[in-house]
Amino acid sequence: MPATEVVVPLNAMATPRDTLARPIRDLRISVMDRCNFRCPYCMPRETYHEKYRFLGSHERLSFDEIVRLARLFVQLGVRKLRLTGGEPLLRANLADLIGDLTAIPGVEDVALTTNGVLLAKCAAELKAAGLKRITVSLDSLDAEIFARLSGGFGGLEDVLDGIEHARRAGLEPIKINAVIQRGVNDHTALELVKHFRGTGVIVRFIEYMDVGNRNHWRQELVVPSKELVARISEHWPLRPLEREYRGEVAERYAFADGQGEVGFISSVTQPFCGDCSRARLSSDGVIYTCLFATHGTSLRDGLRGGASDDQLLDIIRNVWLSRTDRYSELRARLRSSAPEQRKVEMFYIGG
Ligand code: GTP
Ligand code: 5AD
Ligand code: SF4
Ligand code: SF4
Repeated sequence: MPATEVVVPLNAMATPRDTLARPIRDLRISVMDRCNFRCPYCMPRETYHEKYRFLGSHERLSFDEIVRLARLFVQLGVRKLRLTGGEPLLRANLADLIGDLTAIPGVEDVALTTNGVLLAKCAAELKAAGLKRITVSLDSLDAEIFARLSGGFGGLEDVLDGIEHARRAGLEPIKINAVIQRGVNDHTALELVKHFRGTGVIVRFIEYMDVGNRNHWRQELVVPSKELVARISEHWPLRPLEREYRGEVAERYAFADGQGEVGFISSVTQPFCGDCSRARLSSDGVIYTCLFATHGTSLRDGLRGGASDDQLLDIIRNVWLSRTDRYSELRARLRSSAPEQRKVEMFYIGG
């Protein structure tokens, strides 16, 4: 029998694997470091006031630069893109970027995370540009708690209106990210479930994490997902669902009565670093390989210094090949051994 001939396309490129054999699959692109909220756990008002120096527009990557990098990441194995901020909808003409990103061959999923305030205005345009789905950060439906958690800047009604516009535009499935803190908003978690159950909108509860350097995180503020699962099940019995894909961040449960599903992101009590295939690109073009990174590698220097695609690919590949991150698995040890290490801020790399 003749040996089977393996045809390797000319542009095929091996997906780099990091030191723990994890491939690169997911790229989270922050397009804007500014935000129109001041969530105390992310951008506390006392630090991020009128005089705080955010990036200037020339410091941020242009759309052309982002698209060029996204194509290179796709060559290395990325299949999923997520646009984040700060607040990504503050970036002018974002739909143009989405149009370009969704057109890249090999990209299977493009999503966006927003606080939802500007969504009513943008939803139809984003959908028309090719965006598939959105995730809205919404920590509580209680107006007072919402105001506190958004730093007094956002309007709850605007966010709910934005979600409705997204639904009508077909930006689905819509996911709601709710960060839960004990004694702050955990008593309003059930209300979120009740409100969105049966609407097709998927609520996901996120364990409060020690991201950045300013959020005064304490272990006691974390409500373990197990506890929330138990509390929700008392009202609406839940059935665990299979993972949809390897590296999925949320653990999913279906409501036993068929009214949809709810998710839990348990990065503190059940870390998922083992399957972590996510890279993060800041709005000024620095690549980070962990949400808790203490340093990154600038791609903007190369981009603006005339580097070729091959040279940029080499930089990205090398960053990934030398990746050792597993912060959440080592949290306790790292917090006690290197407490003074400055981590990258959440609003700067988009969560
Ligand atoms: P889809 O399943 O594609 O909808 O997205 P996702 O599960 O990646 O969710 P999303 O991007 O909305 O992330 C939700 C939240 O989970 C983020 O805001 C973070 O708080 C947390 N998260 C996402 N990725 C990571 C990660 O790699 N490490 C840690 N520790 N937390 C993460
Ligand atoms: N812990 C968990 N999630 C957080 N987010 C912001 N800060 C934290 C934190 N300390 C979430 C936001 C948003 C996403 C970008 O990250 O609520 O959904
Ligand atoms: Fe803005 Fe999101 Fe940070 Fe809140 S968590 S300040 S909405 S970037
Ligand atoms: Fe990935 Fe870092 Fe999160 Fe672990 S802590 S899952 S390595 S981003």
